[in-house]
Amino acid sequence: MILHRAIAIDGPAASGKSTLARILSKRLGLIMVNSGAMYRAVTWKVLQLGVDANDRLAVVEALKGMELQCGVDGLSSTVAVDGVDPGDELRSEEVNANVSAVAAVPEVRECLVSLQRDYLKLGDVVMEGRDIGTVVFPETPYKIYMDADPTVREARREEVGEVDSVAARDHADSRRETAPLKIAEGAAILDTSGHTIETGVAAALEILVSQGFPIPESAWSGD
Ligand code: CDP
Ligand code: CDP
Repeated sequence: MILHRAIAIDGPAASGKSTLARILSKRLGLIMVNSGAMYRAVTWKVLQLGVDANDRLAVVEALKGMELQCGVDGLSSTVAVDGVDPGDELRSEEVNANVSAVAAVPEVRECLVSLQRDYLKLGDVVMEGRDIGTVVFPETPYKIYMDADPTVREARREEVGEVDSVAARDHADSRRETAPLKIAEGAAILDTSGHTIETGVAAALEILVSQGFPIPESAWSGD
């Protein structure tokens, strides 16, 4: 039997999940899966269709009519809807404002969780999101829950010029009924508020070592 591995990274917006996942992917040779991009892609299509993101039944109908293509480009996950890659539009103000509503729809989650698990067919993964350690890969021993002060996180988004209500998304993502954001059993908490990216990566590698992940010597340096 081939033993596949998944590193699960969860946490609120701008805690540093994508940044860490990208670096771990490169240094450990894992496929990096941005599960948020999948929820954003469905939201983008829902908005394109003129569907109200808060109308659950209408979102489910729209979902039935769309075809999602999830793949990889090098070591990074890719997503397209009906053959179109939404690109930068995935992080538009409109998608930011509506993605939590779409992600709260159980049918949407069921569909995307299945596509997320399919990535293991392609290889070992580092996957980041909100429910990776709780729902997608609850059995993996490698789990990190990232966090940072809300003011630090808001400032990080403003710094890159993104219009986003981090607090509103966190609130909705933590309160929803299906797969809310929470600390998974067995997850180690990594607060990045006082970390630089490099010290944060070192702390994450220490966590993975403590969880039994085989880290090669080369992964400790950024070269
Ligand atoms: O990058 P950022 O942390 O701001 O967000 P993201 O990871 O792109 O996720 C966007 C939204 O998708 C989140 O606010 C959640 O509503 C939803 N999401 C989710 O429900 N479950 C996941 N595994 C990933 C994202
Ligand atoms: O994926 P998530 O929304 O959790 O966060 P991100 O897209 O990785 O964004 C985090 C931002 O904080 C990026 O602009 C990073 O450069 C910055 N940052 C970090 O990720 N880790 C630190 N220790 C310090 C800053």
